[in-house]
Amino acid sequence: DWKMDAFVEETIKAIREKVGDGRVLLALSGGVDSSVAAGLLSRAIGKQLTCVFVDHGLLRKDEGDEVEGVFGPNGQFDLNFIRVNAQERYYNKLAGVTEPEAKRKIIGEEFIRIFEEEAKKIGAVDFLAQGTIYPDVVESGLGGESAVIKSHHNVGGLPDFVDFKEIIEPLRDLFKDEVRKAGLELGIPEKLVFRQPFPGPGLGIRIIGEVTAEKVRIVQDADAIYREEIANAGLDRGIGQYFAALTNMRSVGVMGDERTYDYAVALRAVNTVDFMTAEAAEIPYEVLNKVMSRIINEVRGVNRVFYDLTSKPPGTIEFE
Ligand code: XMP
Repeated sequence: DWKMDAFVEETIKAIREKVGDGRVLLALSGGVDSSVAAGLLSRAIGKQLTCVFVDHGLLRKDEGDEVEGVFGPNGQFDLNFIRVNAQERYYNKLAGVTEPEAKRKIIGEEFIRIFEEEAKKIGAVDFLAQGTIYPDVVESGLGGESAVIKSHHNVGGLPDFVDFKEIIEPLRDLFKDEVRKAGLELGIPEKLVFRQPFPGPGLGIRIIGEVTAEKVRIVQDADAIYREEIANAGLDRGIGQYFAALTNMRSVGVMGDERTYDYAVALRAVNTVDFMTAEAAEIPYEVLNKVMSRIINEVRGVNRVFYDLTSKPPGTIEFE
C-alpha cells in the first residue's frame, strides 16, 4: 500500500523533527493503537523511546509473552521495553471484591500506581506518547473500539505524575483500518494488528464476581479454545467481538462415574457496527458444539457451557 507507505515515512520524519534527541515514554497495552504507535516511534527514534507494559494478570492466554516477543529485547523493534509483572499484586488487590464498579476502579487505580512508579524510576522525559486515533479525537462514535469507550472505562486526562513537557500522538489523523494498515507496513504481526477489542480491565470484567488466579486460568483456557475453533472455522475476521467469560455459577454434573460441582462458562459473540448496539452472532451449531466439548474435556473446573444470545441493549457486550 503506497499511500500507507508514504504515511509511515512522513510520520517517521515528523517524529524525528519534533523529538530531536529527546526522550519519549509510552504506556504500551498490547492493543492495536499503542502497538502501532510504539512501532512508529521505534522506527523513528529507537532507544529514545521507552515503553512500559503492565501485565496485570488479566490478559488473554499467553498475551503478555506475545507482546514481549514483539516489543521486548528479542523482538524486531529497537526501543527500551519494560514489562511489569503485576499479576500477584492485582490478584491480592482484587481478593474478595465482587462488585463490578469496585473491580474496575481497583484495576484502573492500580495501573496508575504502577505506571507512576515506573515513570519515577525512568525520571523526566520530554514527551509522553499516546496512541490516540482520529475517532478518539472527535469522540463521535465513528466506529472502532476506542470511539465507544465509556468515560469510566479508561483513565481520562493526562497523568500529572509523569514528568514530561509535551504530548506526542502519531496516530491522531488515522481511522482504525488505517492504523491496522500502518501496523502491517511496520511489520507488526497480523495477530496483533487484527486483534479484536479488548477492555482495559481485561478478564477482570469477564469473570463475574471475585477474581482469583484459578478463575483467570479457567477463563484464559476456555477463551483460547474458543478463539482457536472460531479461527479454524474461518470465522475470526467475520465476527465483531467474541470471547469466553466465567459465570459465577456452579452446578452439578457427572464426569465418568464422578459427581462434579463446577463452573459454567459463557460464550459470547456479537456483531456490531459501533459497539453501542450489538446482536449475538449466528455461529454454526457444529462449531459451538466442538467448542463446548473441548472446553469440558480440556479445562479443569468447568462442567457446563452456555451460549449468550442476548442483544445489546438490554445486555452489554462485556459481562460487567
Ligand atoms: P460494553 O460491555 O459496554 O462494551 O457493551 C462495549 C465495547 O467497549 C469495550 N469495553 C472497554 N474497552 N476499557 C476499554 O478499553 C474498558 O473498560 C471497557 N469496557 C468495555 C468492550 O470490549 C466492547 O468492545
